Amino acid sequence: DEDERTERIEAAKRELGDDLVILGHNYQRREIVEHADFVGDSYQLSVEAAEADAEYVVFGGVTFMAESADIITDDDQTVILPSMEASCPMAGMAEALQVDAAWAEITAAAPDADIVPVTYMNSYADLKAFCAEQGGAVCTSSNAHEVFEWAFDRGDKVLFLPDKHLGENTAHRLGMADSVAEWDPWDPEGKSAAEVAESDIVLWDGYCQVHERFRVDHVERIRDEYPDAKVVVHPECRREVVEAADRAGSTATITRTIEEADPGETWAIGTEIHLTNHLQRWHPEVNVVPLCGEACMDCNAMRQIDPNYLTWVLEELVAGRERNVIEVAPREAELANVAMERMLEI
Ligand code: 13P
Ligand code: SF4
Repeated sequence: DEDERTERIEAAKRELGDDLVILGHNYQRREIVEHADFVGDSYQLSVEAAEADAEYVVFGGVTFMAESADIITDDDQTVILPSMEASCPMAGMAEALQVDAAWAEITAAAPDADIVPVTYMNSYADLKAFCAEQGGAVCTSSNAHEVFEWAFDRGDKVLFLPDKHLGENTAHRLGMADSVAEWDPWDPEGKSAAEVAESDIVLWDGYCQVHERFRVDHVERIRDEYPDAKVVVHPECRREVVEAADRAGSTATITRTIEEADPGETWAIGTEIHLTNHLQRWHPEVNVVPLCGEACMDCNAMRQIDPNYLTWVLEELVAGRERNVIEVAPREAELANVAMERMLEI
């Protein structure tokens, strides 16, 4: 039962002491975040990983986050993901080999342009490495606009991968909405490389299935039901949803919004349901409601991190066995680190 499991996790944590740090993303379930030493958004977790001294970093999150932690920690630190099944579908929508082929096409179609590739943190290490090699960087939802500005200082166009919605929302934020093109190089009816290369910002055709579900009529329904409600959404939501909301930002921004809300205020939240549930629990003085009611989804990649698996990896560590180690190949890690360091410096 849960009490027994909690005791076992806490006992393993005591045993491992300073050799262990547990990081948890805001979308993890309650039974994981309760045991985490630090809970936050992707950017904060990458900073925590970079600063961690512990020998073992156990990551409550998805594969690309654990890979990034491995890239950014020292060689003698070990990153462990309690389930190897926790793969973000959006990260899988831009495979490095595909991007490599598309890059050849777009750079050939616009030989005089200086295109800078920017990849969202939600991507695999080989794509981050590719971006570094081509002079680009990584960004998260909390710094995309700053990384785009940096990219436009270096070149004259940005290829953004994989999340078209974050890319489009960032273009709007920068006042560049007039020069954005969506690109699926394999769509026979879609635009050609030469056509998209006429725009300043080219968006890869990826998306998050959890955030794509939110619609403008969800915002309208909330405003009908709670006339004083305010709405905060994640920038992985469609452009029109972000426009209809009062605020948009990373999971840390959403958390801060509720922390800073006055008692009695109503906030509707457009993001993964576990974060909404945490905020309801942590801030009972605020009326926190899910933007699309019962239809709000959890992320099936984040859900793979079952508390029983957390117990297992920790008890195995106590027994001297390292399970589910996430290790990025050295050359790839070195390059991907360049792209991540560029972001951290920006
Ligand atoms: P944050 O960077 O806002 O934490 O979001 C991560 C994520 O996976 C959103 O879907
Ligand atoms: Fe990936 Fe979306 Fe899940 Fe975030 S919420 S990990 S982008 S599938």
